[in-house]
Order: sequence, then structure tokens, then C-alpha cells
Amino acid sequence: MVEEVKTEVRGNKRGTRATQGGSRVVKLSEVSRDVKNEVRVTTGSDELNRVLGGGMVSGSVVLVAGEPGVGKSTLLTQLAIHVGSKTSSVLYVCGEESVEQIKLRVERLTRGKKEEAALKNEAENLYFLPELNVDQIVMEAEALKPTFMVVDSIQTLSTGDLTGMAGSVGQVRESALRLIELAKRENITTFIVGHVTKEGTIAGPKVLEHMVDVVLNLTGDEDRQWRFAKTQKNRFGPIDEVGVFEMTEKGMEDVANPSGVFVEEVQSGVPGSAVACLMEGTRPVLVEIQALVVESTLAMPRRVVNGVSLNKLQVLSAVLQKRCGLSLGTRDIFVNVAGGYRVTEPAADLAIAMAIASSYYNKAIDPGVALVGEVGLLGEVRRVGMVKRRKTEAKKLGFARVIGPEEEKTARSVVKKLFAK
Ligand code: TYD
Ligand code: MG
Repeated sequence: MVEEVKTEVRGNKRGTRATQGGSRVVKLSEVSRDVKNEVRVTTGSDELNRVLGGGMVSGSVVLVAGEPGVGKSTLLTQLAIHVGSKTSSVLYVCGEESVEQIKLRVERLTRGKKEEAALKNEAENLYFLPELNVDQIVMEAEALKPTFMVVDSIQTLSTGDLTGMAGSVGQVRESALRLIELAKRENITTFIVGHVTKEGTIAGPKVLEHMVDVVLNLTGDEDRQWRFAKTQKNRFGPIDEVGVFEMTEKGMEDVANPSGVFVEEVQSGVPGSAVACLMEGTRPVLVEIQALVVESTLAMPRRVVNGVSLNKLQVLSAVLQKRCGLSLGTRDIFVNVAGGYRVTEPAADLAIAMAIASSYYNKAIDPGVALVGEVGLLGEVRRVGMVKRRKTEAKKLGFARVIGPEEEKTARSVVKKLFAK
């Protein structure tokens, strides 16, 4: 049950508008050409620009969703600093932290950087608003007229027009509606923070997805430094680009060339490790997949994943069992993607399967080998896109031999090739 604001019933009978004030239906030929061009503003981060499709579109509303602690506030503070140091006014609504806390963070993030000077002189344009009432925020924003606004977070806001608590579906939706309406009316580029839980189930950000222009998901392992930004929806750009960041003591830093960072720690000669050639948008990345296969003591052996879906593991172990002759039915299988990277591309299938087979046979894969290819239910290795680019990148990073659909037709033959004496 979701609480709603009761709106006035519009008295117009059908057709009144057309007869009284003229219809608002327009013919294509009558639409004015004089549209404002999509104005793109740089975010100060090449990675973020790329993910957004070439910078922020002015007046757009972006939902930044992620688990607590992933770095949403850090990234948006950096963004606010960048925009604010360019002499356009920025309003940062802080529902979660005190203004003093944020000041400390701003100082830490700008120490020794070029924005430090800009923020110290009079050109400073960074405004903070510790406020939880969305209607108050709208009023303040109307008075200040910022060009850029951050709302951290939507779960802390509420309106007096509803009785539900902040964070409830009704409040989250109504608050977002009011902020979006403000953004469009005053042409304020708005970034809204939305928390998601580990399961991604919380109603908050989910109900907002269709209302905002862009949904930007921020992910990453808590105990790893890598962070990934990916758009799940983007009205102004592609949705397959990934921004890679490193969380450092100086904030979120761009990782300009991420293709090699996830294979830096690969230990050669250890069974259970395989390197996959993946694509993230238009960029190739090499990722290490690790697997551990051990005799199970349980009636129902364990299947544990980190960075790949459980479904994927189950399908691939079934294929390995039936098509490649591995008896996995009584064994626990653990699969992990190094670096906290999340693999969604089917092109990783062959590497996942071979990491499992490598641990099963207790034989390491030759360190110069990288794998690419989708594995079908019949055990066939299927084609994936952009094989050439993947191979080129793998060779550049020292993987002399890439095994994919062009080299081998079935997973079984790959197993033979890699693990037969
Ligand atoms: P934060 O942006 O507060 O996360 P969120 O808003 O998504 O909940 O960042 C949380 C973590 O980031 C925190 O554990 C500390 C770390 N961090 C750094 O490593 N470097 C920094 O410069 C900052 C500001 C935070
Ligand atoms: Mg935060």
C-alpha cells in the first residue's frame, strides 16, 4: 500500500481544452526548429563524462544508486567541487551529513589540487543546505537559482503533504517528483543519491528509475579499491559504457586504462585461475576468474559466487559435467572474480568454465593463455562480438595465446587442449 498525495480533480470535460484554449496537439512541421541544443557540461572526470555519454546534459536529472559506502557522496562532492570552482553556483543538499563533515571532506578532496585555490578565493560558489523537507529545498533552490544541485540522499527527504516516514515509497517518489519538476522548470542539472541494499531490493531507487533521465549505478567491493560506474538507463547516451575509478585517500580517481588492472595480480602456475577477455562498452578489459573445486561434505554441494551470477555457475557446471566429463555433483564450487569486478558478459563463460576445470584437474592453465567465448548448453563455444579487439588487447598485455570460438568449437576440446597431458 503506497500513500499518495491527493490531487485536485481537473474539472475539464473531454474536449473543453480544445474548444476553449486551442488544442496542444502539434504537427511535426509546426514544431519550432529553435530547440535548445543539448548542452553538455564536463564533470571534471573523463570516466564520468564517458559513462554519461560525453558530459552532463544541462537540466537533466541523474539518479546515482549504490550500496552505502560505495562512494556516492565522495563522487558527487568531487563533482560539486568541479562545477563550483568553475564559477557556476552549486547547491549541495545534505540530508545525511552535517555541513561541517562535508567541509572536512571538501578540504581533503581538494588538498593540493587545482580546485583548492578556486575554492579559497571569492569565486567560490558552493552552497550547502542541511534540510530534510523537500518543499523547503525547492523554495531555497528557487531563490538561489543554482545551475547544479546534488541531493544526498533521496531517502532522507519527505514532504508534509504525506504522513509516511522519510524513506517510504510514497515519500521517496513524491520528493523525487518535486525535485524533477524543479530541475526541469529552472534548468538545474540535478544528481540525486539513492541507496540500495546488498540485494538491490529496496523500493526507493527502483520506483525512481522511470522518472529520472539517467540511472547511474555505482558498484564495487567494499574491501577493494575499484569502483565501477555504469548507466542502467540513459536518455542522452549509451548504456554500455563503464567508468572505472580507484578509491584513494584523495577520493575517486579515474582509471584511464583499466584493461590491465584486474590481471596484475594473477599468480602464474596456480590451478583454478583463468583470464577472460571482456568488453566494457567500447573498451576491452582482461579479468581474472578464480575457481575452487573441493570434495563436498554436504548432501547438497555448495555453489558460491562472487562477481558472477549463481545461475551462470550452475549452468556452466552442468555443461562441464555432461559435456566435458567432469564429475562435479559431489563437489563444492566457489567462483570469484578478482578485483571486485562484476562479470555480466557471456563472453566470460569459457574462462569461468576453464577456471573450474583447472581447479578440478588441479592443473594450472598456461600463464600466456586468455579465453573468450560464450558456452552454450550443448557445450559449444559460441561467437561473441569484437573478438579482434579483445585479442589485440590480450596480446598487448602479454597473453600470447587467446583461445576462443575461432580456435576451438567445443568446451570439451578446450578442456582437452588445456589439461590433457
Ligand atoms: P561515501 O562517499 O561516504 O559513500 P556513500 O555516500 O556511497 O555511502 O564513501 C565511503 C567510503 O569511501 C568511506 O568508507 C571512506 C572512503 N573514502 C576514501 O577512501 N577516500 C576519500 O577521499 C573519501 C572521501 C572517502
Ligand atoms: Mg553518502
